[in-house]
Amino acid sequence: MPPHPPATRAARRVSRRVRRRRTMLVAGMLVAAIAAGGYALTRPSEADADPSAGRASTQATPPRAEAPEAEPSPLTPPASPTPVGSPPPCDTAEVTAAIAHGSDEDVIAAFGGGEAFRLVVAAGDAPCIDLHRAGRTWVVVNKRNALDPKDYWPVPQARPTAPRIVSGGGWLRADAASALDDLAGAAAADGMGRLGIDSAFRPYDFQVGLYDRYVASRGQQAADLRSARPGHSEHQTGLAVDVVACGTAGCGSHDDFRGTPQATWLAENAWRFGFIVRYEQDRTETTGYAWEPWHLRYIGTELARAYRDGGFSTLEEFFGLPAAPTYAG
Ligand code: DAL
Ligand code: ZN
Repeated sequence: MPPHPPATRAARRVSRRVRRRRTMLVAGMLVAAIAAGGYALTRPSEADADPSAGRASTQATPPRAEAPEAEPSPLTPPASPTPVGSPPPCDTAEVTAAIAHGSDEDVIAAFGGGEAFRLVVAAGDAPCIDLHRAGRTWVVVNKRNALDPKDYWPVPQARPTAPRIVSGGGWLRADAASALDDLAGAAAADGMGRLGIDSAFRPYDFQVGLYDRYVASRGQQAADLRSARPGHSEHQTGLAVDVVACGTAGCGSHDDFRGTPQATWLAENAWRFGFIVRYEQDRTETTGYAWEPWHLRYIGTELARAYRDGGFSTLEEFFGLPAAPTYAG
């Protein structure tokens, strides 16, 4: 590894401020956790497949109407973790600079790491963090939060090389593609064989056709449990991927994936590479979707570690957002 360049005095000052802020946030978290008596998260069950076999078009798509308003959260928001007398987290020089010029990882680090970031966001203490902003690893896309803009197209994109591309183009946002390569390599090293990509980035137009086919073949109620309406799919962010298990006889399907060693491995290890299994069993009342053990969502390693350490099973609860079982309109 190349040596670090000598730190400048200014860099050391920033680093000291970040450490001080992290210490204050952690202290604040402890106080908040004690005050709130902890806020429990439960996991409950459901299932079914998504024949979202890719063939993603490469054409840009026009925007569509509608942007549903979220309802008040049924969850009790955590107490503010910001220590009394401290400046609002968004007003600190570290956060301001990271938001203006840094990567998503820089922003999270400026808040003091994944759990510190989550706590201030969930407590409503971070107005500078927009959970509905497409293009950030913390974006929440669900039945109550449409992509903005609706025809959002992630760049840069890349194609993972470790997994086999079974259908669709296999494109993901570049950071997610690289993380998926690491994940697939680790899965293979752990004896899980090769993973396949069944569906990755899906443009708005593609989701229009996919959803319409679902409705035509199964009816709207069943379709809404398994396929996002256009503008509401995480696949459009380039941060979501559907994986299947491959072997010498070829690759399985979504329906085959549940209960496989690969699905168990993903549930236990995906977080190490920045992914979460987005639609867990028995969480339909919160996510709006049936169990999809194959649908991975990239949120970055810092947030994924906080998600796993906190025992979360939905992104909505992770960020203190309302459940999104249905569309608003
Ligand atoms: N199958 C997931 C919910 C999607 O269509 O994005
Ligand atoms: Zn999916």
